[in-house]
Amino acid sequence: DIPNLHEVYKKHFRIGAAVNPFTLNTQSELLKHHFNSITAENEMKFENLQPVEGSYTFANADRLIDFASAHGMGVRGHTLVWHNQTPAWVFENKDGSAVDRETLLATMKAHIETVVSRYKGIVYAWDVVNEAVSDKSGELLRPSKWLDIAGEDFIAKAFEYAHEVDPKALLFYNDYNESVPEKRDKIYSLVRSLKEKGVPIHGVGLQAHWNLKHPSIDDIREAIERYASLGVKLHITELDVSVFEFEDRRTDLTEPHEAMLDQQAERYRQFFEIFKSYSEHIESVTFWGAADDYTWLDHFPVRNRKNWPFLFDEKHRPKQSFWNVIDAA
Ligand code: XIL
Repeated sequence: DIPNLHEVYKKHFRIGAAVNPFTLNTQSELLKHHFNSITAENEMKFENLQPVEGSYTFANADRLIDFASAHGMGVRGHTLVWHNQTPAWVFENKDGSAVDRETLLATMKAHIETVVSRYKGIVYAWDVVNEAVSDKSGELLRPSKWLDIAGEDFIAKAFEYAHEVDPKALLFYNDYNESVPEKRDKIYSLVRSLKEKGVPIHGVGLQAHWNLKHPSIDDIREAIERYASLGVKLHITELDVSVFEFEDRRTDLTEPHEAMLDQQAERYRQFFEIFKSYSEHIESVTFWGAADDYTWLDHFPVRNRKNWPFLFDEKHRPKQSFWNVIDAA
């Protein structure tokens, strides 16, 4: 008998998975058995919810919400303000010129009000702002239209708008390369300054797109400690463990090597031991998918290259990684 992952981790944190309309069908048994939280992989992004100004398309997001409600799962909302997957109309007037700051903030406010109020009481946490910090050395914020047009307080505004609509929802800043020391320090200072200004921010989301070697266990621990020291909650929001190094661009593998799966299982054991030891701060651990038959890593950072990043294989059978995670509980 296969234990339920979410039951096994009940006293530590929620166990989540990102889903899409396809996996909601093809992985529903697995999702129901092992997970007590879901996140929309794409269906709650700006371009999906409001592709055209004022005309909202909620059907796919609603279906996911209904699935969660029917099976007693929580929903993490992803994401309100991001430089990607946001339609051009948000930043442009009809004549193609850039909108001004007031117009952009009004668009942001209307979007946040509509979306957050619709899912109030169901979405327990929102990734309010996603990936606003730069990966470039010496640069705090990533250049984007949000930043260029609205200025750096677009971040604070997004949190304020969301909090006004749903004061009970937990509001997160979410980012990747969150355990790389230089970026970690920038995320830390951004969140610290938001807290100092009294902005309603409740947590840091660590995306955790990791691989067999990176980040190091020490860097992960250090990142968790730094963020936790801000007195905010931590959610692991997009966990996957690629069997390739980031620099490895091989495309010829049709199945993973045994050694890769062994190393992956060892990594998963270490990660969950760490998460567990910080469960006072970490209240939710979400994978960016559920089983190896579908992962965004099949198209990132190399197109059409299969990857096997999860605890369950392509036929939804538990891998050694799964048993190690159970073992670590
Ligand atoms: C990815 C989805 O998984 C893909 O399907 C989509 O094509 C691009 O976006 N960081 C995030 C997620 O915050 O929203 C991204 O999701 C993965 C990286």
